[in-house]
Amino acid sequence: MSPVIEARGLSREYPIARGLFRSHATLKALNNVSFTLEAGRTLAVVGESGSGKSTLARLLTLIEPPTRGELRIEGEDVAHADAARRRRLRREVQIVFQNPYGSLNPRQRIGRALEEPLLVNTDFPGAARKEAALDMMRAVGLRPEFYHRYPHMFSGGQRQRIAIARALMLKPKILVLDEPVSALDISIRAQVLNLIAQLQEALKLAYVFVSHDLSVVRHIADEVMVIYLGSVVEIGPKAALFDEPLHPYTRALMAATPVADPCALKVRAPLIGEPPSLIDPPSCCAFHPRCPLAMEICRRETPALVSKRGREVACWAVEA
Ligand SMILES: Nc1ncnc2c1ncn2[C@@H]1O[C@H](COP(=O)(O)OP(=O)(O)O)[C@@H](O)[C@H]1O
Ligand code: SF4
Ligand SMILES: [Mg+2]
Repeated sequence: MSPVIEARGLSREYPIARGLFRSHATLKALNNVSFTLEAGRTLAVVGESGSGKSTLARLLTLIEPPTRGELRIEGEDVAHADAARRRRLRREVQIVFQNPYGSLNPRQRIGRALEEPLLVNTDFPGAARKEAALDMMRAVGLRPEFYHRYPHMFSGGQRQRIAIARALMLKPKILVLDEPVSALDISIRAQVLNLIAQLQEALKLAYVFVSHDLSVVRHIADEVMVIYLGSVVEIGPKAALFDEPLHPYTRALMAATPVADPCALKVRAPLIGEPPSLIDPPSCCAFHPRCPLAMEICRRETPALVSKRGREVACWAVEA
Protein backbone atom coordinates (compact mmCIF):
# COMPACT_ATOMS: atom_id res chain seq x y z
CA MET A 1 0.00 0.00 0.00
CA SER A 2 1.35 3.45 -0.80
CA PRO A 3 1.55 5.87 2.14
CA VAL A 4 -1.04 8.63 2.60
CA ILE A 5 1.60 10.85 4.22
CA GLU A 6 5.30 10.97 3.39
CA ALA A 7 7.29 13.53 5.35
CA ARG A 8 10.96 14.03 4.43
CA GLY A 9 13.16 16.27 6.54
CA LEU A 10 10.40 18.61 7.70
CA SER A 11 11.75 21.60 9.60
CA ARG A 12 10.07 24.71 10.94
CA GLU A 13 11.79 27.82 12.25
CA TYR A 14 10.32 31.00 13.72
CA PRO A 15 12.06 34.38 13.82
CA ILE A 16 12.01 35.77 17.35
CA ALA A 17 12.44 39.47 18.13
CA ARG A 18 14.91 40.03 20.98
CA GLY A 19 14.36 43.71 21.67
CA LEU A 20 15.23 46.97 20.00
CA PHE A 21 19.03 46.76 19.78
CA ARG A 22 19.51 43.04 19.27
CA SER A 23 19.26 41.03 16.10
CA HIS A 24 16.47 38.54 15.55
CA ALA A 25 17.01 35.02 16.83
CA THR A 26 15.76 31.84 15.21
CA LEU A 27 13.67 29.38 17.17
CA LYS A 28 13.98 25.90 15.70
CA ALA A 29 10.64 24.36 16.60
CA LEU A 30 11.06 21.29 14.37
CA ASN A 31 14.19 19.73 12.83
CA ASN A 32 14.42 17.26 10.01
CA VAL A 33 11.37 15.11 10.80
CA SER A 34 10.72 12.17 8.45
CA PHE A 35 8.10 9.42 8.52
CA THR A 36 5.53 7.64 6.38
CA LEU A 37 1.97 6.75 7.33
CA GLU A 38 -0.42 4.33 5.63
CA ALA A 39 -4.23 4.24 5.54
CA GLY A 40 -5.80 2.74 8.65
CA ARG A 41 -2.63 3.20 10.75
CA THR A 42 -1.82 5.46 13.70
CA LEU A 43 1.44 7.29 14.28
CA ALA A 44 1.63 8.64 17.84
CA VAL A 45 3.81 11.69 18.39
CA VAL A 46 5.03 12.07 21.96
CA GLY A 47 7.25 14.50 23.83
CA GLU A 48 7.12 17.07 26.61
CA SER A 49 5.32 20.38 26.24
CA GLY A 50 7.22 22.61 23.80
CA SER A 51 8.83 19.72 21.90
CA GLY A 52 7.21 20.72 18.58
CA LYS A 53 4.22 18.38 18.43
CA SER A 54 1.65 21.04 17.57
CA THR A 55 4.06 22.60 15.09
CA LEU A 56 4.24 19.25 13.28
CA ALA A 57 0.42 19.03 13.42
CA ARG A 58 0.15 22.45 11.74
CA LEU A 59 2.60 21.49 8.98
CA LEU A 60 0.76 18.23 8.25
CA THR A 61 -2.61 19.98 8.01
CA LEU A 62 -1.18 22.64 5.67
CA ILE A 63 -1.97 25.41 8.16
CA GLU A 64 1.71 26.46 7.85
CA PRO A 65 4.39 25.58 5.30
CA PRO A 66 7.64 23.94 6.45
CA THR A 67 10.81 26.06 6.41
CA ARG A 68 12.54 23.07 4.80
CA GLY A 69 11.63 19.55 3.78
CA GLU A 70 9.07 17.82 1.64
CA LEU A 71 5.53 16.79 2.44
CA ARG A 72 3.58 14.42 0.21
CA ILE A 73 -0.09 13.75 0.81
CA GLU A 74 -1.48 10.82 -1.17
CA GLY A 75 1.72 10.84 -3.20
CA GLU A 76 1.38 14.49 -4.20
CA ASP A 77 4.09 17.00 -3.33
CA VAL A 78 2.18 19.72 -1.47
CA ALA A 79 4.67 22.49 -2.20
CA HIS A 80 4.35 22.00 -5.96
CA ALA A 81 0.60 21.45 -6.19
CA ASP A 82 -1.45 24.17 -7.93
CA ALA A 83 -4.13 26.09 -6.02
CA ALA A 84 -6.97 23.73 -6.96
CA ARG A 85 -4.99 20.63 -5.92
CA ARG A 86 -3.93 22.27 -2.66
CA ARG A 87 -7.56 22.96 -1.83
CA ARG A 88 -8.31 19.32 -2.55
CA LEU A 89 -5.33 18.13 -0.42
CA ARG A 90 -6.40 20.41 2.41
CA ARG A 91 -9.71 18.54 2.56
CA GLU A 92 -7.89 15.21 2.88
CA VAL A 93 -6.17 16.16 6.17
CA GLN A 94 -8.31 17.48 9.00
CA ILE A 95 -7.39 18.37 12.56
CA VAL A 96 -9.01 17.95 15.97
CA PHE A 97 -7.62 20.25 18.67
CA GLN A 98 -7.20 19.65 22.37
CA ASN A 99 -9.74 22.19 23.52
CA PRO A 100 -13.28 21.35 22.41
CA TYR A 101 -14.50 24.63 23.97
CA GLY A 102 -12.34 26.84 21.80
CA SER A 103 -12.89 25.00 18.52
CA LEU A 104 -16.67 25.51 18.28
CA ASN A 105 -18.42 28.81 17.64
CA PRO A 106 -20.65 29.41 20.72
CA ARG A 107 -23.34 31.15 18.62
CA GLN A 108 -23.63 28.39 16.06
CA ARG A 109 -26.03 25.49 16.45
CA ILE A 110 -24.43 22.05 16.15
CA GLY A 111 -26.25 21.15 12.94
CA ARG A 112 -25.03 24.33 11.32
CA ALA A 113 -21.45 23.79 12.58
CA LEU A 114 -21.40 20.34 10.98
CA GLU A 115 -22.89 21.54 7.70
CA GLU A 116 -20.55 24.48 7.31
CA PRO A 117 -17.63 22.53 5.73
CA LEU A 118 -20.08 21.18 3.14
CA LEU A 119 -21.53 24.63 2.52
CA VAL A 120 -18.07 26.08 1.88
CA ASN A 121 -16.54 23.19 -0.08
CA THR A 122 -19.34 21.39 -1.92
CA ASP A 123 -22.51 22.14 -3.88
CA PHE A 124 -24.66 19.86 -1.72
CA PRO A 125 -28.23 21.26 -1.44
CA GLY A 126 -29.59 22.05 2.05
CA ALA A 127 -31.47 18.78 2.51
CA ALA A 128 -28.39 16.70 1.62
CA ARG A 129 -26.23 18.73 4.00
CA LYS A 130 -28.67 18.14 6.82
CA GLU A 131 -28.83 14.43 6.10
CA ALA A 132 -25.02 14.20 6.06
CA ALA A 133 -24.84 16.08 9.39
CA LEU A 134 -27.41 13.78 11.01
CA ASP A 135 -25.60 10.70 9.66
CA MET A 136 -22.33 11.95 11.12
CA MET A 137 -23.96 12.75 14.48
CA ARG A 138 -25.17 9.16 14.62
CA ALA A 139 -21.68 7.88 13.72
CA VAL A 140 -20.10 9.74 16.66
CA GLY A 141 -22.82 8.80 19.16
CA LEU A 142 -24.82 12.06 19.31
CA ARG A 143 -28.62 12.00 19.35
CA PRO A 144 -30.46 13.63 16.40
CA GLU A 145 -32.31 16.08 18.66
CA PHE A 146 -28.93 17.71 19.46
CA TYR A 147 -28.95 19.12 15.92
CA HIS A 148 -30.57 22.37 17.09
CA ARG A 149 -28.54 22.85 20.26
CA TYR A 150 -25.70 25.25 20.99
CA PRO A 151 -22.18 24.17 22.13
CA HIS A 152 -22.64 25.39 25.74
CA MET A 153 -25.38 22.79 26.20
CA PHE A 154 -22.87 19.94 25.89
CA SER A 155 -20.29 18.32 28.15
CA GLY A 156 -16.58 18.34 27.22
CA GLY A 157 -16.78 14.76 25.92
CA GLN A 158 -19.82 15.54 23.75
CA ARG A 159 -18.12 18.66 22.41
CA GLN A 160 -15.08 16.62 21.43
CA ARG A 161 -17.44 14.21 19.61
CA ILE A 162 -18.85 17.22 17.75
CA ALA A 163 -15.33 18.43 16.87
CA ILE A 164 -14.46 14.97 15.54
CA ALA A 165 -17.72 14.85 13.56
CA ARG A 166 -16.99 18.25 12.04
CA ALA A 167 -13.48 17.16 11.05
CA LEU A 168 -14.95 14.15 9.24
CA MET A 169 -17.69 15.95 7.27
CA LEU A 170 -15.52 16.26 4.15
CA LYS A 171 -14.50 12.58 4.33
CA PRO A 172 -10.77 13.15 4.85
CA LYS A 173 -8.28 10.29 4.60
CA ILE A 174 -6.10 11.61 7.43
CA LEU A 175 -6.99 12.98 10.85
CA VAL A 176 -4.43 14.82 12.96
CA LEU A 177 -5.53 14.64 16.60
CA ASP A 178 -3.62 17.13 18.75
CA GLU A 179 -4.00 15.99 22.38
CA PRO A 180 -7.67 15.11 21.69
CA VAL A 181 -8.45 13.73 25.15
CA SER A 182 -6.00 15.69 27.33
CA ALA A 183 -8.62 18.29 28.34
CA LEU A 184 -11.29 15.70 29.16
CA ASP A 185 -12.16 14.16 32.52
CA ILE A 186 -10.41 10.83 33.03
CA SER A 187 -13.84 9.16 33.28
CA ILE A 188 -14.78 10.00 29.69
CA ARG A 189 -11.36 9.70 28.03
CA ALA A 190 -11.79 6.00 27.37
CA GLN A 191 -15.15 6.56 25.67
CA VAL A 192 -13.74 9.17 23.31
CA LEU A 193 -10.65 7.01 22.62
CA ASN A 194 -12.93 4.08 21.79
CA LEU A 195 -14.89 6.27 19.40
CA ILE A 196 -11.64 7.39 17.74
CA ALA A 197 -10.61 3.73 17.34
CA GLN A 198 -14.02 2.69 15.95
CA LEU A 199 -14.07 5.52 13.40
CA GLN A 200 -10.59 4.55 12.21
CA GLU A 201 -11.71 0.97 11.66
CA ALA A 202 -14.95 1.95 9.89
CA LEU A 203 -13.47 4.69 7.69
CA LYS A 204 -9.91 3.34 7.20
CA LEU A 205 -8.56 6.65 8.47
CA ALA A 206 -4.86 7.34 9.00
CA TYR A 207 -4.20 9.08 12.32
CA VAL A 208 -1.39 11.26 13.55
CA PHE A 209 -2.12 11.18 17.27
CA VAL A 210 -0.28 13.80 19.29
CA SER A 211 -0.04 13.22 23.02
CA HIS A 212 2.21 13.81 26.00
CA ASP A 213 0.48 10.91 27.77
CA LEU A 214 2.06 7.53 27.10
CA SER A 215 -0.74 5.58 28.76
CA VAL A 216 -3.07 6.90 26.02
CA VAL A 217 -0.51 6.22 23.29
CA ARG A 218 -0.15 2.61 24.41
CA HIS A 219 -3.82 2.05 23.52
CA ILE A 220 -4.04 3.83 20.23
CA ALA A 221 -0.67 3.73 18.39
CA ASP A 222 0.78 1.45 15.74
CA GLU A 223 4.04 3.43 15.48
CA VAL A 224 5.47 5.87 17.98
CA MET A 225 7.63 8.92 17.29
CA VAL A 226 9.41 10.48 20.27
CA ILE A 227 10.55 14.07 19.79
CA TYR A 228 12.82 16.15 21.99
CA LEU A 229 13.36 19.86 21.28
CA GLY A 230 11.97 19.42 17.78
CA SER A 231 14.09 16.42 16.76
CA VAL A 232 13.10 12.77 16.51
CA VAL A 233 15.12 10.76 19.04
CA GLU A 234 13.38 7.42 18.58
CA ILE A 235 10.74 6.11 16.14
CA GLY A 236 9.38 2.65 15.52
CA PRO A 237 6.65 0.07 16.18
CA LYS A 238 4.75 0.52 19.43
CA ALA A 239 5.76 -2.88 20.79
CA ALA A 240 9.48 -2.17 20.29
CA LEU A 241 9.35 1.19 22.06
CA PHE A 242 7.13 0.11 24.94
CA ASP A 243 8.77 -3.27 25.55
CA GLU A 244 12.33 -2.03 25.22
CA PRO A 245 12.67 1.77 25.03
CA LEU A 246 16.28 2.50 24.03
CA HIS A 247 16.73 6.27 24.05
CA PRO A 248 17.30 7.69 27.55
CA TYR A 249 14.62 10.32 26.84
CA THR A 250 12.04 7.67 25.83
CA ARG A 251 12.95 5.74 28.98
CA ALA A 252 12.53 8.84 31.11
CA LEU A 253 9.09 9.57 29.61
CA MET A 254 8.08 5.99 30.33
CA ALA A 255 9.35 6.25 33.90
CA ALA A 256 6.97 9.16 34.39
CA THR A 257 4.02 7.03 33.22
CA PRO A 258 2.21 4.72 35.65
CA VAL A 259 2.81 1.07 34.75
CA ALA A 260 1.22 -2.16 35.95
CA ASP A 261 4.55 -3.55 37.19
CA PRO A 262 6.23 -1.10 39.61
CA CYS A 263 9.47 -3.14 39.63
CA ALA A 264 10.00 -2.16 35.99
CA LEU A 265 10.38 1.45 37.09
CA LYS A 266 13.63 0.81 38.94
CA VAL A 267 15.64 0.41 35.75
CA ARG A 268 14.46 3.73 34.35
CA ALA A 269 15.75 7.10 35.42
CA PRO A 270 13.01 9.74 35.65
CA LEU A 271 13.29 13.01 33.79
CA ILE A 272 15.14 15.74 35.66
CA GLY A 273 14.94 19.49 35.06
CA GLU A 274 13.11 21.49 32.43
CA PRO A 275 13.65 21.39 28.66
CA PRO A 276 16.26 24.00 27.60
CA SER A 277 15.54 26.96 25.33
CA LEU A 278 14.92 26.26 21.65
CA ILE A 279 16.60 29.54 20.70
CA ASP A 280 19.98 28.38 22.00
CA PRO A 281 19.66 24.60 22.42
CA PRO A 282 22.49 22.44 23.83
CA SER A 283 25.02 21.43 21.20
CA CYS A 284 25.11 18.03 19.45
CA CYS A 285 22.88 15.67 21.43
CA ALA A 286 20.47 18.28 22.81
CA PHE A 287 19.45 15.90 25.60
CA HIS A 288 22.96 15.78 27.13
CA PRO A 289 22.41 18.22 30.04
CA ARG A 290 19.57 16.01 31.32
CA CYS A 291 20.91 12.61 30.30
CA PRO A 292 22.13 10.17 32.97
CA LEU A 293 24.31 8.40 30.36
CA ALA A 294 25.89 11.50 28.77
CA MET A 295 29.49 11.03 27.62
CA GLU A 296 32.08 13.33 26.12
CA ILE A 297 31.12 12.45 22.52
CA CYS A 298 27.49 13.51 23.19
CA ARG A 299 28.63 17.16 23.50
CA ARG A 300 30.95 16.94 20.50
CA GLU A 301 29.02 15.05 17.80
CA THR A 302 25.33 14.82 16.98
CA PRO A 303 24.11 11.20 17.02
CA ALA A 304 22.30 10.30 13.78
CA LEU A 305 18.96 8.50 13.74
CA VAL A 306 19.97 4.95 12.85
CA SER A 307 18.25 1.60 12.73
CA LYS A 308 18.89 -0.45 15.87
CA ARG A 309 16.94 -3.35 17.33
CA GLY A 310 13.75 -2.89 15.32
CA ARG A 311 13.43 0.90 15.46
CA GLU A 312 15.41 4.05 14.65
CA VAL A 313 17.18 5.76 17.52
CA ALA A 314 19.61 8.69 17.86
CA CYS A 315 21.91 7.99 20.82
CA TRP A 316 25.61 7.25 21.22
CA ALA A 317 24.98 4.95 24.18
CA VAL A 318 22.68 2.52 22.35
CA GLU A 319 24.51 -0.57 21.05
CA ALA A 320 23.54 -2.02 17.69
N1 LIG B 1 4.18 30.94 15.74
C1 LIG B 1 5.20 30.76 16.58
N2 LIG B 1 6.13 31.71 16.77
C2 LIG B 1 7.16 31.52 17.61
N3 LIG B 1 7.38 30.40 18.31
C3 LIG B 1 6.49 29.41 18.17
C4 LIG B 1 5.36 29.52 17.31
N4 LIG B 1 4.66 28.36 17.37
C5 LIG B 1 5.32 27.57 18.24
N5 LIG B 1 6.43 28.19 18.72
C6 LIG B 1 7.40 27.62 19.65
O1 LIG B 1 7.81 26.36 19.14
C7 LIG B 1 8.04 25.46 20.19
C8 LIG B 1 7.24 24.21 19.97
O2 LIG B 1 5.89 24.51 20.24
P1 LIG B 1 4.71 23.46 20.00
O3 LIG B 1 4.83 22.88 18.64
O4 LIG B 1 3.46 24.14 20.35
O5 LIG B 1 5.07 22.33 21.08
P2 LIG B 1 4.14 21.22 21.75
O6 LIG B 1 2.88 21.11 20.97
O7 LIG B 1 4.98 19.97 21.71
O8 LIG B 1 3.92 21.66 23.17
C9 LIG B 1 7.70 26.20 21.49
O9 LIG B 1 8.89 26.70 22.03
C10 LIG B 1 6.82 27.32 21.02
O10 LIG B 1 6.92 28.42 21.88
S1 SF4 C 1 23.63 10.66 22.78
FE1 SF4 C 1 24.53 10.81 24.82
S2 SF4 C 1 23.50 12.52 25.84
FE2 SF4 C 1 22.30 11.95 24.04
S3 SF4 C 1 20.79 10.54 24.84
FE3 SF4 C 1 22.47 9.29 24.12
S4 SF4 C 1 23.81 9.02 25.88
FE4 SF4 C 1 22.41 10.68 26.37
MG1 LIG D 1 0.89 21.22 21.58
